[in-house]
Amino acid sequence: MQKRKEDSLSASAVLSFTNVSIPCPEIYEVIDSTNNRAKVLAEAGAANGTAVIAERQTAGRGRLGRRFFSPKGRGLYMSLVLRPRLSFDQLPLLTAYAAVAVAEEIENLCPDASIEIKWVNDLILTKRKLAGILTEGAFDADGKGLQFAVLGIGINLSGELPEEVRDIAVTLESVSPPPTRAEMAAAIIARMMRAEDEIANRRFLAEYRRRSCIIGKEVLVHTASDVYPVTVLGIGDDASLLVRRTEDGQEGSLAAGEVSVRFS
Ligand code: BTN
Repeated sequence: MQKRKEDSLSASAVLSFTNVSIPCPEIYEVIDSTNNRAKVLAEAGAANGTAVIAERQTAGRGRLGRRFFSPKGRGLYMSLVLRPRLSFDQLPLLTAYAAVAVAEEIENLCPDASIEIKWVNDLILTKRKLAGILTEGAFDADGKGLQFAVLGIGINLSGELPEEVRDIAVTLESVSPPPTRAEMAAAIIARMMRAEDEIANRRFLAEYRRRSCIIGKEVLVHTASDVYPVTVLGIGDDASLLVRRTEDGQEGSLAAGEVSVRFS
């Protein structure tokens, strides 16, 4: 395997990897959660594309209140302030777009990686989770328009994973020497700054569907009160999951939620 590149994380290193104009990122040695800090910056008026990146997080979080394992130097832990003009109903499209954008940017830097997407926002490599995305939005007083979104991205890059996730998670290093975090962050920030235009033309949805690892499969849907099996029929134009319930054959769509799948 090739030797890893020097991977120092600094604002100047991030800025050196892009020729488009991006706001200067904030870099932390340690932070509770980059999403918390990005939210504070967004509320204070930070520009579209402002990034907060940390060497490690003490309270990194995932969807549904889960913890996101964030040890020093082993992953890219980054949150972006985004200000696309989107309505409340369009927020799932931002998460779906981010999944495609992050997958494509990782593959551009690591051509040996072939990344799938598990609805809504998990990036899957060799049948295990490589990265997760947590989108948090703030809306106008009428609740209709998005004021800002904080998009948290956690990518497992290298090193040993903890025992409890070793069967379900994977690092990029397992298939390819990872690029530096600065290079990866710069590529993702520049790409996410184009979210509004790329969501408007909906072209990313074809790529989202192509990368889906659950279309045509039976998965378990987890809601607050229930777990039930469905067959996944497709992904709707609003990024919802189109399903047929195994129990009664009823077809419907899920706007949000969690599915689990048994990879074989
Ligand atoms: C998930 O898998 O459910 C989403 C994981 C998101 C983790 C990232 S790491 C950077 C940012 N800060 C956080 O506290 N969470 C996100």
